[in-house]
Amino acid sequence: MKTAFITGANSGLGLATARALAQRSFNLILFCRDEKKGREAQLAVQQANPAVRVDLVLADLIDLDTVRRVAKEITETHDRLDVLVNNAGYTPSKIEFVDNIEKSFFASHVGHFVLTHHLLDLLKKTAAETGDVRVVNLSSAAYLGGNTSRFFRRIDDLSPLFAYCDDKLANLLFAKELAKQMAGMGITSYSVHPGAVRTNFGADTPGFLGKVFSLAGPLMRSPGKGAETSIFMAAAPLKAIGERNNGAYFADSAPKTTHNRDITDEKAAVLWEKSMPFV
Ligand SMILES: NC(=O)c1ccc[n+]([C@@H]2O[C@H](COP(=O)([O-])OP(=O)(O)OC[C@H]3O[C@@H](n4cnc5c(N)ncnc54)[C@H](OP(=O)(O)O)[C@@H]3O)[C@@H](O)[C@H]2O)c1
Repeated sequence: MKTAFITGANSGLGLATARALAQRSFNLILFCRDEKKGREAQLAVQQANPAVRVDLVLADLIDLDTVRRVAKEITETHDRLDVLVNNAGYTPSKIEFVDNIEKSFFASHVGHFVLTHHLLDLLKKTAAETGDVRVVNLSSAAYLGGNTSRFFRRIDDLSPLFAYCDDKLANLLFAKELAKQMAGMGITSYSVHPGAVRTNFGADTPGFLGKVFSLAGPLMRSPGKGAETSIFMAAAPLKAIGERNNGAYFADSAPKTTHNRDITDEKAAVLWEKSMPFV
């Protein structure tokens, strides 16, 4: 039985993805930061398929010690990990910093980078046995507004919207570089845009943008519909994804051309290099 690890699994897209993968007979590891919400999600996912194993791990992506601890715990207690969905993320309502790095970028990129690295031994071991391990990063069409020149810099007057765009560009570039670094090892990597989805996402966003999110609610996709591309990347046969699409950005379960001058092999490699000291 395959095992999938999903961050931000207690809500929205993460929960919908976990439920759907349980129904496809995956064992699940749910990564959540709040124990009560995590236990409720664990129950909901277990109900989706009582025959699978559903584990819960508790950590916060901005607290790297908790991230490393959880990865170690999973590596010691599980003998395989087939799919990692780096799903957690949020739109910041104000600009805050962790170690002089914008907080949502820290959670969404640095936290997931460190998590992925500390799970690599288990991912590689599984790939050596099965030849098919996948890492899926939740990006967004918001990558369009991202700019790598802002990465890792303290910019006190950065707009929360641009901070989010930077997070999503980093998620996309990390998937691209991971695909390159893991080439030939049986590990593929993708970034996805789920569409505009009715979740807790944007619930704290103030001002004009917050109004747009709440007014757009009825027009947005359900979490189940929004999760379809993540589920496709996790569960579809590799042939359906396409060998040459390793590292690509997907929406509506199909690879999409990207439009941002910062999406280059060189920028992806620089992001990787600058992220390594956090591991
Ligand atoms: N909804 C959309 O329209 C949309 C569009 C494009 C991309 N996305 C992306 O889809 C992903 C999932 O978002 P969603 O729409 O499902 O939103 P959501 O319902 O708000 O879920 C976000 C999840 O991330 C978790 N999370 C946030 N910060 C965390 C941290 N520091 N450590 C650990 N977990 C953390 C949340 O935990 P708590 O419940 O404890 O806060 C929650 O489980 C995000 O990466 C988002 O950028 C969403």
